[in-house]
Amino acid sequence: MGRNPSSWLEGLSHLWLPYAQMQTAPAPLPVARTEGCRIYLSDGRVLIDGIASWWTACHGYNHPHIREAIGRQLDVMPHVMMAGLAHEPAANLAARLAALLPGELDHVFFSDSGSVAVEIALKMAAQFFLNRGDGKRTKFVGFRHGYHGDTLGAMAVSDSGTGMHGGSAGLLTQQFLIDLPRDAESTAALEKFLDRHGSEIAGLIVEPLVQGAGGMMFHGSEVLRRLRALADRHDLLLIFDEIFTGFGRTGKLFAMEEAGIQPDIVTLSKALTGGALPLAATIASRRVYEAFLSDDPGKALMHGPTFMGNALACAAANASLDLFEREPRLAQVAAIETQLKRELEPCRELPGVKDVRVKGAIGVVELKHADDLEILRKNFVEAGTWIRPFGRIVYLAPAFTIAPDEISLLTGAIRRVLASR
Ligand SMILES: Cc1ncc(COP(=O)(O)O)c(C=O)c1O
Repeated sequence: MGRNPSSWLEGLSHLWLPYAQMQTAPAPLPVARTEGCRIYLSDGRVLIDGIASWWTACHGYNHPHIREAIGRQLDVMPHVMMAGLAHEPAANLAARLAALLPGELDHVFFSDSGSVAVEIALKMAAQFFLNRGDGKRTKFVGFRHGYHGDTLGAMAVSDSGTGMHGGSAGLLTQQFLIDLPRDAESTAALEKFLDRHGSEIAGLIVEPLVQGAGGMMFHGSEVLRRLRALADRHDLLLIFDEIFTGFGRTGKLFAMEEAGIQPDIVTLSKALTGGALPLAATIASRRVYEAFLSDDPGKALMHGPTFMGNALACAAANASLDLFEREPRLAQVAAIETQLKRELEPCRELPGVKDVRVKGAIGVVELKHADDLEILRKNFVEAGTWIRPFGRIVYLAPAFTIAPDEISLLTGAIRRVLASR
């Protein structure tokens, strides 16, 4: 039933917002519509979006090719359950993802959110060993500054120091949190840990090249190559969580390409549908998949989200992949990287700034101390931008279709807002 704008605003008080202290959180900004890199508020203000709706809308909002694909699919079939049934958009998408991903990452298990894709990856890894007769390997190594989602398994392999999951600490299974092997000392520490505990560990899980929500921390490909070598030495599975980095964000279609190595399992979501609809995928190598093949039904992967492989979402994802094929997305990311480097670099001179770093279409200004986030966020809105700092991090992760003058508006707002603190 249609409601007029003033009546829907009354409904806002019934929304429980994410990551928000509801007693003090400012009311959410009412959005009337989106287009390209812009968010149109119902009070007439327009914001340039610097973070593409939590890094999803990589082609900008409302891309006509994705909209048309969803519309066509809606006429045919919005959804059908996936147990015992399958459909063309899901089959095509699975085949395309398998072809795009390097090596033998060929077997695609769909779900509906990044956190669930991570849960599935963890279950898959532990059962991989169980199916091979090694039921002792039930633990995982996650890394400091890592973030893998808000469900219980994903939280357990995330860095609790990021402050996201304190309220659930008592619910979580104990996993291992270790420093990434960035240098000789941290590599030796991880080696020593695995020498002692390797036989209990099913897998290592890492966001390759950029750890996002845990602080926008970057690391080099050599770190990933060390993880691959250690996983091989200890017969562990290596899980890459490319939910943030996948689909061009770091400069290659997948971050793993820069390192030239492959994980055993990879998780994707966020930009998979170009930000139009929720969809995620957990993709296993042939070796992992084959460990589930058996005459014994008990060796099957017992997981099945109701909206698995939703046909509308798969149609949107196929359309998004068309755009990566037809339009120069990776060249756009390279141009964004150059511009962000040039325009954010002056922030280094501002008081209270600890670091400025850019990788692909990710630009980060790290502060020495956490500011009042609500004041910073309000100042960015007043500057006509949608930028959501967290912790000590002010960052941009815009759509790849953003125009150079829109980027300049975003970087200019960051320079001005940080200079006026
Ligand atoms: C690397 C990574 N993994 C997992 C997730 C969780 O995804 P979702 O919010 O769709 O559950 C996120 C979300 O920010 C993420 O950045």
